[in-house]
Amino acid sequence: MRVLVAGATGAVGRALVPVLRRRGHEVFGTTRSPGNAQDLLAMEAQPVIMDGLNRTEVLETVREVEPEVIVHQMTSLANAPDLKHFDREFALTNRLRTEGADYLIAAARQVGTARLIVQSYTGWPNAREGEAIKSESDPLDATPPREMTRTLESIRELESKVLAVGEMAPVVLRYGAFYGPGTPFSSDGDVVGMVRQRKLPVVGGGGGVWSFVHIDDVAAATALAVEGGPSGLYNIVDDDPAPVSVWLPELARILEAKPPIHVPAWIARFLIGEPGVSMMTRIRGSSNDKAKRLLRWTPVCGSWREGFRRELGGPPAA
Ligand SMILES: NC(=O)c1ccc[n+]([C@@H]2O[C@H](COP(=O)([O-])OP(=O)(O)OC[C@H]3O[C@@H](n4cnc5c(N)ncnc54)[C@H](OP(=O)(O)O)[C@@H]3O)[C@@H](O)[C@H]2O)c1
Repeated sequence: MRVLVAGATGAVGRALVPVLRRRGHEVFGTTRSPGNAQDLLAMEAQPVIMDGLNRTEVLETVREVEPEVIVHQMTSLANAPDLKHFDREFALTNRLRTEGADYLIAAARQVGTARLIVQSYTGWPNAREGEAIKSESDPLDATPPREMTRTLESIRELESKVLAVGEMAPVVLRYGAFYGPGTPFSSDGDVVGMVRQRKLPVVGGGGGVWSFVHIDDVAAATALAVEGGPSGLYNIVDDDPAPVSVWLPELARILEAKPPIHVPAWIARFLIGEPGVSMMTRIRGSSNDKAKRLLRWTPVCGSWREGFRRELGGPPAA
């Protein structure tokens, strides 16, 4: 198929493009930078220079490429987010999720694109009450921390806009927290660096439940969605949601670092604000049942426990 990956040079794009090529697809990848265009050529994709927030450029790109499938992977998250000012940090990403999606939808309509796939997120957007593990049909958080309100609104807007474009067999992939190459959980990633230096504490009881996913499993799930499967929302996460009080000490053990320190929530609030405290203590995890059933996707790394170890080395499981 002719596939346009909008935002082909980020953590997902760099894992996805080679998978699509291996599966025989013709891949066009967008970037704003000529340097990254060279990387796309090396991955055997055809680079296209495009700013996703420039309507004219998006319309022109899609008109020229005439893709059968468009995959929206444009985010602006390269700098480690300051959790305290979450919405400010996510402002450009939020624009890519809303305006960026508008432009892609308008452009796709021009050329009759058959399928639209977009990147969303699962984890902190889940309602922070009730069951520890949520499915796609559970409600999102009605009362997120104030500093996350606009980001959650953008996620809702993206998802509802895209799912409304029924003629494009839309798929929204709600990815969990990435680990693996190009992510904060790689050997040279920010989070791993903080854990090595004991700068990432367990806050309060560490009850926030995280759903992780290896970036190669993200690429495999996305490729399956390119090729088929029913429209709708899918959580793309591993089989092993775990609270911070479990995964953070285990990550430290794998890195052969000292165990994380513990900090009460009221102190942590000064450092990482309400968003950070919520992610450490209150968020819920996500189930991958639907993606397994309907996309016929099975994560190769079923658990972050094994995945972190494979990625980062370290002693065998306790
Ligand atoms: N679910 C998750 O856990 C999750 C999700 C997303 C990101 N992240 C993390 O956030 C960090 C950064 O993410 P990332 O590596 O994907 O990089 P990123 O800086 O978020 O960029 C992602 C893609 O979007 C493109 N892009 C950015 N702004 C654009 C714009 N205005 N118009 C068109 N394209 C635009 C970039 O292309 P060019 O810069 O080449 O133009 C790139 O291809 C990584 O550590 C990643 O793991 C995590």
